[in-house]
Parts: sequence; C-alpha cells; structure tokens
Amino acid sequence: MKSVGVKGTGRFLPEKVVTNEDFEKVLDTTSEWIVSRSGIKKRRFLEEGQSASFMAEKAGLKAIESAGLHPEDIDMIVVATSTPDMAFPSTACIVQEKIGAKNAFAFDVNAVCTGFIYGLSVATSMVQNNTAKNALVIGVDALSKITDPQDRSTAVLFADGAGAVVLSEVKEGSGVLSTALGADGAGGKFLYVPAGGSAQPTSHESIDQRQHYIRMDGREVFKFATRKMADISNEALKKANMELSDIDYLVPHQANLRIINSAAKKLKISNDRIYINIHEYGNTSAASIPIALDEVVEKKLIKKDDRILIVGFGAGLTWGASIIKWDMD
Ligand code: ACO
Repeated sequence: MKSVGVKGTGRFLPEKVVTNEDFEKVLDTTSEWIVSRSGIKKRRFLEEGQSASFMAEKAGLKAIESAGLHPEDIDMIVVATSTPDMAFPSTACIVQEKIGAKNAFAFDVNAVCTGFIYGLSVATSMVQNNTAKNALVIGVDALSKITDPQDRSTAVLFADGAGAVVLSEVKEGSGVLSTALGADGAGGKFLYVPAGGSAQPTSHESIDQRQHYIRMDGREVFKFATRKMADISNEALKKANMELSDIDYLVPHQANLRIINSAAKKLKISNDRIYINIHEYGNTSAASIPIALDEVVEKKLIKKDDRILIVGFGAGLTWGASIIKWDMD
C-alpha cells in the first residue's frame, strides 16, 4: 500500500491572551488551583465576530506553504471541529473558499478532542486509495464560544486555536504506520452541550437555562482519559509491531497536565520525550495535537525518520492514537 504522511504543518492562535489571574477577577477560583489541577497558566480566546474558519484558514495556509504547495494543489480538505462556524455549510467548505482551494472536496468530522486523529485517519486512507493526492487536515476549535463563563469548572480549561497538516505520498515505509480508534456513546453524558441541535433546538428557555454551554463531569472524564490514553497508545503500537521504546516522541492531546503525566507513567515514557504546551494554550480540543506538532517541527525536536506517537481522547466518548514515521526535512 502507498505510504502516506505529513509533508507540511501550520498553526494559528488568536492574539487575545487570557491568564489565570484574569479569571481570579471574575470567578471564585485561584491561579494556584488552576495550575495545580490542570497545568494551565494562560490560554487564547477569539474576539467577538471571529470564528473557527478564521483560525482554520490561517493554519491551513501555513501548512500548505510548509509543504511547498499552493492552495490549488490541495484536492481534499477535512476539518475536525465540534465548534463549526454554523450547522451548515461545513467549516471545511468555508475554508475551501477562503483559501482558494478550488480543486478540493471538503467535509467536517466531529470526534471533539479526538477529531484530529479521526480526520487524519480518514484522509490517510483516501490518499492511500487515490481518492485524493494532497489532503489538508485541520483541527480547529473555538471552545470559548460554547463554554459558560460563569462555570468555574469548565471556563478555566477550554480555549481556542487551530493546527493543520498536509498529507501526501511519502517515501516507502514512512508516514502513518498505524492508527487505533475507539468510541463509547454511553459516556456521552459526561461531556456534552445539551441544546442547539435537533434534540433540543435553541429556545428562550434553553438559553435561560444556559443549555447552549458545555456540561462536564470532570471526575468521570478524568478517570476515562487516564485509562484510555495508555490503552489506545498500546493498541497503536501493537498494530505497528512496535514497543514504546521504538517511539522517539509522544505528542498527546493537551487537556490536563495530570492526565498526560498519568498516561506517561503507565506507558513508562520519560518527560523529555513528551511535548507539553498546555500551560500556554489550555485545552484547544481538536486543535491541540496539530498545534503541538507544528511547534515540535519548528523547535526541531523531531527529525526525518523519527517515530512519533500522537494520542488523544474527547467527548463522545472517543479516543485514538497514531504512529507516524516522520518524512519532513
Ligand atoms: N477553581 C476552584 N475550585 C474549583 C474550580 C476552579 N476553577 N473548578 C472546580 N472547583 C472545585 C469543585 O467545585 C470541587 O469542589 P467540591 O469538592 O466542593 O465539590 C473541587 O474543586 C474539586 O473538584 P474535582 O472535580 O475533584 O477536581 P479535580 O481534581 O478532579 O480537577 C478537573 C477538576 C481539572 C476538571 C479534572 O477533573 C479534569 O481535568 N477532568 C478532565 C476534564 C477534561 O479533560 N475535559 C476535556 C476532555 S477533551 C474534550 O473532548 C473537549
């Protein structure tokens, strides 16, 4: 089968920085609590009037440039998001128009924080079977738009950002080596947005009851995440016939530093082989892994032929991991 991998990366973070101290002024919380429970020190929020496609456009164009391509060379766009600009058209179609990728078909996937890994997996298969040649996969979320600013248990965690990769054929034996994905709909009740969909369309009542905002049982999500991060990583390793010692670098979803540390302990991987930027950006959902990948490339923390493990979890519940043999210079 054709080898397909990452040929370009890009990211975009909104300019507006919101610090823990900013939350201290408006919520019953302390910076010390937020840092000790989550690792987060600050995060970026979009301004009013800006949306997911605003960030996706910028991250996408950077990834295309980094791959040495032009927007017309892109023939497939997948946007992983749970905060689309609107119910439809898809954010992918909006981005296609904005970046001028007129030869691309375009659609969204929604696996919340695992969305980027799901999207990467779909795009890899479609490049492998020649449905597309150069796929742009964007993970973007604007969670500040659906987080209750009065709910201290979620407001301090979630944030905005976008990351993107271009996937194309790479040298034989490189690229995406394995992917493992999972879901458990029974856990949907632990992290969800009650209103605004077809089950409960937006109404005066739903807004009065603040049902257009995220509801989360943090303890349940925490327990699930610490278990699944290690399990799904091991499944992806097994599929690639590898051990953790074969992995050069781990790029996990950035939801909570304690979840990352707990998974690292289970996997027995040392801190110097894990990328962490949660203190800077908070939880940017589908964007967190591609943002981290772009920073890892920029900081030259990985080199050609290194083997990277990406792993994430999210609402759904969903989880996933992929092993990629890097083929960028
Ligand atoms: N400041 C101060 N106190 C707070 C805050 C805050 N910002 N938020 C909650 N508390 C309080 C709670 O009310 C609770 O008080 P109580 O004991 O009187 O009820 C107390 O702190 C402890 O709450 P816990 O839930 O036990 O705190 P915990 O150590 O579990 O940390 C946290 C909470 C950070 C939410 C953690 O459970 C967590 O990270 N869970 C996973 C969340 C996550 O990753 N979600 C995203 C998934 S990815 C996606 O799909 C978007």
